[in-house]
Amino acid sequence: MIIANWKANGDILSNLKWCKFFIENCPKEIISNIGITPSSLHIGQIKDLLESFEVKIGIQDIDSDGGPRTGSISGEMAADIGCDFTLIGHSERRTLFKERNELLKQKIESAYQANLQPILCIGETLEENKQGKTMDILKSQIEEAISNITIKEDFIVAYEPVWAIGTGITPKAKDINVIHEFIKDVVQSQSSDNEVPLVLYGGSINESNSEDFFTQINIDGGLIGGASLDAEEFLKIVNIYSRLITQ
Ligand code: PGA
Repeated sequence: MIIANWKANGDILSNLKWCKFFIENCPKEIISNIGITPSSLHIGQIKDLLESFEVKIGIQDIDSDGGPRTGSISGEMAADIGCDFTLIGHSERRTLFKERNELLKQKIESAYQANLQPILCIGETLEENKQGKTMDILKSQIEEAISNITIKEDFIVAYEPVWAIGTGITPKAKDINVIHEFIKDVVQSQSSDNEVPLVLYGGSINESNSEDFFTQINIDGGLIGGASLDAEEFLKIVNIYSRLITQ
């Protein structure tokens, strides 16, 4: 799966142009494997523009509950407007909004209650990476977020090293592959039904490096920030992915 994460970008006109280009150029056989997370305010617009296509629409975050929580959006509300999935625990949420694993666990529960597919984002900081703590950090991020939750068959984890997001620096594809295998093992060992998740990579994916990533056996797709804002560049990455998985 390839997901465009627009973060706090986009407006009515640029979204319209993006969707027009997307509709005209996205290979039809791959479209149900593409996800878009616009800003929450623009989800309705994107749903309307893409309603006759099987592309998945997601929300970038949900709150752990609804009701008297001014400024929040609940999982139920996201599902009601037609979202298929929600990102949970993106590193910008963890850093800027101080979201901890305990809260993320409540968000995953809330997503499941609303029938939204949760996509848990995890990743280590540069300092943790340099200290050789990557696997320990990822393990605790997963365990604390999903312990005692019955994860469903379609569970997805996005591995995004904090130091690779928006920096142009990425780990080597082979190293990511090893980390993804580890993530699959950790999730599987937490799952009462032995579920193995899909694991997406995110962090400075672009047209030139995506082929290296997508040829790795344990990299099941990508979460793409900066390069997804330009429809043409995003579609180049989608085409590379499409060619590799349909080979
Ligand atoms: P990036 O962002 O592709 O701009 O590095 C990825 C993400 O934050 O999901």
